[in-house]
Amino acid sequence: MPEPFQTMRISLQVNGQAVEAEVSAVSRLSGFLREVLGLTGVKEGCCEGECGACTVLLDGQPVNSCLMLTFQAAEREVTTIEGLGEGNGLQDAFLQLGAVQCGYCTPGTLAAAEGLLRASPNPVEAEIRHALAGNICRCTGFETIVQAIAAHAAARQETY
Ligand code: FES
Ligand code: FES
Repeated sequence: MPEPFQTMRISLQVNGQAVEAEVSAVSRLSGFLREVLGLTGVKEGCCEGECGACTVLLDGQPVNSCLMLTFQAAEREVTTIEGLGEGNGLQDAFLQLGAVQCGYCTPGTLAAAEGLLRASPNPVEAEIRHALAGNICRCTGFETIVQAIAAHAAARQETY
């Protein structure tokens, strides 16, 4: 483990782009993505791993970026909401089914949903609810979020 005030040079992939940066040993990944790379779609809520607003994909798996130190992402691939693309249909399903209200949870929820669908392309409702267990939404009551993910998964299956 590096010393707290040490800095180090790291390389990683963010949204398909190679990134090199000098980072502090205590830099949080969520702050690095927002403040250094300007990826403000990554939200910070609790910064304690409770709300899921900061969820991003790390090598395709959802993680709470507020709980990760930036150097832990070295040589790995990070995908934020900015890298998930507008054309994959999941965001459209959220909009069409009213799964977005204030929108603060939405980037993290979409990242969690994307991680689920990559691992389990046709999830049952219980799997969807389990995958969203770490993502708090204060607005929607979750029903429309679950419906949007299920509808998108079903639509994707029909196109295969
Ligand atoms: Fe990371 Fe709440 S800000 S879990
Ligand atoms: Fe407002 Fe989820 S839409 S917190």
